[in-house]
Amino acid sequence: MRQSALCLLLTVLVRVYAFIPGADGPVSYLESIEGGSATLNCDSSTNSPGDELMLLVWYKNNAPIFSYDARVETEWSSPSFNVGRRLKAQLQRQPSSVTISDLTEHDQALYHCRVDFLIAPTRNIGVNLTVTGKFQLEQKYLQILILLYS
Ligand SMILES: *[C@@H]1O[C@H](CO)[C@@H](O)[C@H](O)[C@H]1NC(C)=O
Repeated sequence: MRQSALCLLLTVLVRVYAFIPGADGPVSYLESIEGGSATLNCDSSTNSPGDELMLLVWYKNNAPIFSYDARVETEWSSPSFNVGRRLKAQLQRQPSSVTISDLTEHDQALYHCRVDFLIAPTRNIGVNLTVTGKFQLEQKYLQILILLYS
């Protein structure tokens, strides 16, 4: 068990590389409120016959925060990120996703998932997460109200 965890960590570390938005994969924009949660989607399905998912990794600004190794059915999450188990993965349905709760301003970042298949080329999908403070949000609504009633 310990050995497989080490293997997984090494696999994840070796695969660290910089995701280039647009060139390596599409980037979608997601906005959530401080204290709330955000669900980041990643299509990890393959429809080529004989193909299968090998490894799925989520990165925050290119640092791994979660991985699922389908070969040994093992999940890993970064202890420094997954404080209080605030990261929940949903891998059974497509798109697969990770949901991050208790959002703070520090969660605002460029996330991306990397999906390795047995046959198909690696897939990268980016999510640009913006975390809006409650105060900022109130300001925004106030501005809209002022615009509406002026
Ligand atoms: C992410 O969103 C922020 C805020 O809109 C923007 O300034 C930044 O350029 C975006 N980054 C990418 C990689 O799309």
